[in-house]
Amino acid sequence: MSNDEFPTDRPAVVTCGLPYANGDLHIGHLRGYIGADAFNRALKTLGQQTAYVCGSDMHGTPVAVNAEQQGVDPAEFALDWHRQYEETFPQFNVEFDNYGHTHDETNTELTKEIVRTLDEEGHVYEKEIQVAYDPEADQYLPDRYVEGTCPYCGEKARGDECDEGCQRHLEPGEVENPVSSITGNPAEYRERAHKFFEVSAFEEYLTEFLDGLEGTSNARNQPRQWIEDGLQDWCITRDMDWGIDYPGDADDETGSDLVLYVWVDAPIEYISSTKQYTERVGADEYDWERVWTEEGDIVHVIGRDIIQHHTIFWPAMLEGAGYNAPRAVAATGFITINGKGLSTSRNRAIWANEYLEEGFHPDLLRYYLTTTGGLQQDVDFSWNAFQEKVNGELVGTVGNFWYRSLLFAYRNYEGTPEEAVSAEVRERIEGAIGDVRESVNEYDLRGIGRAATRLAQFGNEYIQRNEPWKLTDDDPERAAQVIRDCVQIAKAVAVLLEPITPDKSQRLWEQIGEDGDVADVHLEDALETPPRNFDEPGELFAKIEDDRVDELNEKLEERIAAATDGDVDDGTESDDTDADESDDMTDSESETETDDLEPLLEDRISFDDFQELDIRVGRIEAAEGIEGADDLARLEVDVGFETRQVVAGIKQLHDLSELPGQKCVLLVNMEPAELFGVESNGMILAAGDEADLLTTHGDAAVGEKVR
Ligand code: 2FM
Ligand code: ZN
Repeated sequence: MSNDEFPTDRPAVVTCGLPYANGDLHIGHLRGYIGADAFNRALKTLGQQTAYVCGSDMHGTPVAVNAEQQGVDPAEFALDWHRQYEETFPQFNVEFDNYGHTHDETNTELTKEIVRTLDEEGHVYEKEIQVAYDPEADQYLPDRYVEGTCPYCGEKARGDECDEGCQRHLEPGEVENPVSSITGNPAEYRERAHKFFEVSAFEEYLTEFLDGLEGTSNARNQPRQWIEDGLQDWCITRDMDWGIDYPGDADDETGSDLVLYVWVDAPIEYISSTKQYTERVGADEYDWERVWTEEGDIVHVIGRDIIQHHTIFWPAMLEGAGYNAPRAVAATGFITINGKGLSTSRNRAIWANEYLEEGFHPDLLRYYLTTTGGLQQDVDFSWNAFQEKVNGELVGTVGNFWYRSLLFAYRNYEGTPEEAVSAEVRERIEGAIGDVRESVNEYDLRGIGRAATRLAQFGNEYIQRNEPWKLTDDDPERAAQVIRDCVQIAKAVAVLLEPITPDKSQRLWEQIGEDGDVADVHLEDALETPPRNFDEPGELFAKIEDDRVDELNEKLEERIAAATDGDVDDGTESDDTDADESDDMTDSESETETDDLEPLLEDRISFDDFQELDIRVGRIEAAEGIEGADDLARLEVDVGFETRQVVAGIKQLHDLSELPGQKCVLLVNMEPAELFGVESNGMILAAGDEADLLTTHGDAAVGEKVR
């Protein structure tokens, strides 16, 4: 399938990684669902036929373990969360065309059918493997029921993922020193027959698939390394009751007690949910079979921790079962809160309900998340940065332009003056439309926001430069022309911004007297003449005051402190204290007497000398202590082109589990050195005795040069 530019004449489907139905939604979830929603809306503005589908991920140990802890039946537990998600997403203007769940009949049947096909096509085989077992609880220990050490990086890992270390998917039996999370007892390994999907047979196919894959660079590049390292076949069954039964024959040796691994039926929900959408609207309006089996543009938006599942396992399954391959995979970056990793156990998160209860409009968060993080960049959320963005860009630029233009138009012309829009302004709007088209085709949500806000900025400059208020008496024609142009710009900004701020755009749309839904119009409609008359406009954005931000910061700090105290009191997570958090200082505490500082060097270096230092923005991917070295940590740092192994003397000074995801600054052309047998290929820059890690505070991308 050749990748024509969007809009194509094929139907598209946009999906977002299914949330496990096991707990409250927070900003880390929202950025993905909002991002995918904005991308889907943007596709529509281009005239692309598309559907946005998703569903709750009901199975697997992430749900079973939490349900068990609460003494609830997993089906009821998951359904309860599913219903809450169904209610929450629309409150953020996330509008799925279908939102199903993996336990419904459509998905159960389709999953069984696909697995049967894979089996019939000879892609599934049975093998005896060692599976962790808890003799006291008298049960097998799949995935999250077992904890131990990652065989690849030595970090603490759960049964199927090394979530605190190298992030690898782990196969059953791989975790070392297994301990049952039910009883805390060491687990034993028992031999057991399981089903495997032969991913390794798809090596050539996947290599080609990746060559044509669109989306974000992390999702297109990381999987190449996994293929080079050699693909392992994938165990697709688990010893559990909760899940979709393996569709084996009655005389199957494995018996009927195996269920499918959650990662088999979860992505199949993308298809099932699309199918349900067609069942509701009819195939003439949207044909799921065409998208998934004939010709369609499948776009997956996911978290960066599940790239392997979407670029290796899933496309292999699709190919093996005769379905279409995804056109694009966009993997979102890390999210931090006040510069530190989001942590639900430490309550360092912005919860979906909390945001709404604070009374903020959903479009403000949509704007913040899409224009800072887009689909790939890391996002740091702080109430201060949120305030700055809202007050600066939405209130100061967009809202200010909308309000002042429309109010002037209303007061002087009772709406849009009769004149035709000027060539200058038409051209400027056409340029912005072109930028949005290009951004959509580059999966660049930030580019869409930029095109819209720059147009509003142009509008502000245009009205300021032409001062129509001075012209109404002396040159009424010119005044009318300027305002006519401004109303057109206001309309265009509403259309361009709709994917990001759908509700605010709709309200502006109505303020200029337009009928219908701005979500249904195409980009070119931004150039259509607005209605002649409209009513007095109202302001669409309000400033967030400083004391409100202080109050929000205080609340956040208090609940983080309360969660941390809780951990210490109950003693369940003895290592759950933040070295960097306890290092937090007030402004006055952080001031250092100059007597304590190293004197400034007298010897100057030339600019050329400085140019020889190749200093880059990096992102820490993994961090672990080096055995036998008291102070040293081994870091894996993404420097844009590659991932570097770097040794840094920060073991005692930072909580290493908090570092993955953080941006840093490093010297990349430092000579290689070997420390405690570990090669270091760069030097992380840090300040002071506490090794305060240098970072960036704006949008600098990973790999960018520091000058
Ligand atoms: O990692 C997760 O949260 C999973 N629930 C995502 C599943 S996405 C899919 F459907 F493949
Ligand atoms: Zn690991």
